Amino acid sequence: MTTIHDPASRGFASDNYSGIHPEVLEAIGAANGGHQGAYGGDVYTARLQEVMAGHFGEGVEAYPMFNGTGANVVGLQSMLPRWGAVVTAATAHIHVDEGGAPERVAGIKLLTVPTDTGKLTPELIDREAWGWGDEHRAQPLVVSITQSTELGTLYTVDEIAAIADHAHGLGMRVHLDGARISNAAASLGVPLRAFTRDAGVDVLSFGGTKNGAMLGEAIVVLNPEASEGLTYLRKFDMQLASKMRFVSAQLIALLDGDLWLRNATHSNAMAQRLRAGIEDGLADGSIQGVAFTQPTEANGIFATLPDGVADRLRKEFAFYDWDAAQNEVRWMCSFDTSEEDIDALVAAVARETSAA
Ligand SMILES: Cc1ncc(COP(=O)(O)O)c(C=O)c1O
Repeated sequence: MTTIHDPASRGFASDNYSGIHPEVLEAIGAANGGHQGAYGGDVYTARLQEVMAGHFGEGVEAYPMFNGTGANVVGLQSMLPRWGAVVTAATAHIHVDEGGAPERVAGIKLLTVPTDTGKLTPELIDREAWGWGDEHRAQPLVVSITQSTELGTLYTVDEIAAIADHAHGLGMRVHLDGARISNAAASLGVPLRAFTRDAGVDVLSFGGTKNGAMLGEAIVVLNPEASEGLTYLRKFDMQLASKMRFVSAQLIALLDGDLWLRNATHSNAMAQRLRAGIEDGLADGSIQGVAFTQPTEANGIFATLPDGVADRLRKEFAFYDWDAAQNEVRWMCSFDTSEEDIDALVAAVARETSAA
C-alpha cells in the first residue's frame, strides 16, 4: 500500500488526529506472530493487569476496550441498577459527544449540571443529587467527572477527594472519564492513583488513544464493590475484542515505563507554549483581539477570536469551533505537536488578527 496522506501535516483539531507513537506501533509488532488466546485469554492482557496494579495498586481489574465511549458506557452500566442515574457536568463527553449511547445503549438517565469550567463541586452535585426513594425520579447513584476536563481544566487531588467523599456520603459511586488522564497526572505532577483510587474514585475509563495509542482504552475497576458484571456487559455492549492482545500491548507500551508521561508532558508543554506565544503577542501588540476562555491546565486551549479569523486560520490548520456563536475555538496539542507547529500557529494568529 502506498501512503496517500501527507505524514508531515499536523493541526490542532484533536489529540486523536495524531497517529500512533512509534513505541506503541513497535509493541503491536512485538505482540504479533503465533497464536494467543482470544478475548483476553492472552499473555499481554494478563501482563496488563500487573502493569495497572503497579500504577493503581493491588486488587484493581483492567478491562481493555476499543474506545472511550465504550469504556464510559460499559463502566457506568456496571455501576448502576436499571433505575439509576448519573450526575455529571453539562459539558461532559458522556452527555455531549457520545450520541446518546449512555441513554440508548446503557439505559442510563444523565442528570446534567451547568458549570463554567467543566468541573463539578459538591454543591453543584447537590443540584441533581436528590430524590432517593421517590419512585418518580431516576435514582442518582453515580457521579461522573472528567479529568482533565472537556474544557482543558483540571481538578486538584483535593477537589476530587471532596467530590468522592460527598458522593459516597450520599450513597453514590464515583466514575472518572480519564480519556486524558495522563495529561492530568503530568500537569499535576502526581502519580495516576493520587487523584483516582487514593482520592476515592471507584471506576475509571483509562485513555490511551489520545496519548499515542492506535486504539485502546481500559475500564479500570478501582473498587470492585462498585461495579458488577463487567465481563458480560463488555460482550453484549460489543466492546469485547477477540484479538485483545493488540489492545493490551498498546496500553502496556504506554504504561510499563514512562511513555504515558513523556507523551502527556510534551502535549501539555506545547499547549503552554501556544498560550505563552499568544500572551506575548497580546502584550507586544502583534496579536489583537484574542481572549482565553479557560485556564490552560492540560493540552487544550480555548479562546475567542475576532470575526472571520478562525475561518482564515483554518485554511492552514485544522481545529474546531467550540462555541461558534461566541467565536470560541479549541486548539488541541498532541504527543507529536512540534514547537515549529506552535510557532507557525502563533505567527498565523498574529498575521490574521492584525489584518482583522
Ligand atoms: C473527555 C472524553 N471522554 C471520552 C472520549 C472518548 O471518545 P471515543 O469514543 O471517541 O474514543 C473523548 C474523545 O473525544 C473525550 O474527549
